[in-house]
Amino acid sequence: MRAIQLNRFGGPDVLDVVEMPKPEPQAGEVLIRVRAAGVNFFEVLMRGDRYAVTPDLPMMLGVEAAGTVEALGQGVDTSLTGRRVAAPLFASTHPFGGYADYVTIDAKLAVPLPDALSFEDATALMVQGLTAFHLLRQSPPAGKSVLVTAAAGGVGSLLVQLSKRQGASAVIAVAGSRAKLDLALSLGADAVVDYSTADWPMRVREAAGGAGVDFVYDIVGGSMTSALLEALAPGGELVFAALGRYAIGASEMEAMITRNQSLRGFALLPLISPDVLRASLSKLFQLAAGGELVVTKGSRFALDQANEAHRLLEERRSIGKVVLVP
Ligand SMILES: NC(=O)c1ccc[n+]([C@@H]2O[C@H](COP(=O)([O-])OP(=O)(O)OC[C@H]3O[C@@H](n4cnc5c(N)ncnc54)[C@H](OP(=O)(O)O)[C@@H]3O)[C@@H](O)[C@H]2O)c1
Repeated sequence: MRAIQLNRFGGPDVLDVVEMPKPEPQAGEVLIRVRAAGVNFFEVLMRGDRYAVTPDLPMMLGVEAAGTVEALGQGVDTSLTGRRVAAPLFASTHPFGGYADYVTIDAKLAVPLPDALSFEDATALMVQGLTAFHLLRQSPPAGKSVLVTAAAGGVGSLLVQLSKRQGASAVIAVAGSRAKLDLALSLGADAVVDYSTADWPMRVREAAGGAGVDFVYDIVGGSMTSALLEALAPGGELVFAALGRYAIGASEMEAMITRNQSLRGFALLPLISPDVLRASLSKLFQLAAGGELVVTKGSRFALDQANEAHRLLEERRSIGKVVLVP
């Protein structure tokens, strides 16, 4: 089978297509023929060794896939044969290898897909859907004004919709182009602001009624954090979820003290046991299959064009979910 391997860190072209033996499902596992593999922004950072954690090389990329069960390991329920399932590899003991023709996963983590949900849409609900879902569980938007960064991206587009659905009093979406802002509006944002303009924090405060927003859900980080704090209301909370990209100093911290504001970190993995993962993924799948949650279809690439998928994300040209279709 084919898989994408990272042999050295660098630009998109360091992604190599390699031939390797089709994996054998071990006891308790299923073998899945991959029909869609999700591409996530953190993988772009990992490929360039710009992520918070430096992985050992060589490594296989891809932490989520969806496809059809082709073979069963010992002891697996035979009714799974031929089923359409999600493979959230990131939650398993071998979390990488999703950019490939086949993956294996513990059968307990293979979550069935409703008939109305495509393989591609299912990939958008794994890392990105679960991140949006659990981030809002941790900092619930009901009755609050919220700001979502990178609002047309994978996590961001779901945060906008779920915040609205869960009763946020105002959802303000920020993103880097007109097309991205239009998408956020179509997904239910109450106001949008282009954060490539200089005065954008002030425009967010105005959109929130003057004082700023109650919650900032930030998935961008870096130099944006101090501007986001300017958009935050007194007593507000900035949730930061972009691992390894923070640069706030003493002056911002002191301003936070005077404004009774807080910072709260968010990391998905420690929050999801296998049972929680199955329950929350099934919920997201139901919402999307029933049309209550819109998965924004982004670009699709053949497996051997994984480098182009990474380039699109890195150059900030992606909207919605980017997938590989082996
Ligand atoms: N903490 C957790 O557990 C967790 C879990 C999953 C994901 N995340 C984080 O969530 C974020 C979003 O992930 P995603 O997969 O949904 O990606 P995405 O939003 O689909 O794509 C990344 C977006 O980030 C924005 N961006 C800002 N600065 C950028 C830069 N220097 N280079 C490229 N893009 C830039 C761009 O939108 P604009 O042009 O609109 O700015 C771009 O479209 C990532 O930072 C990821 O690490 C965290």
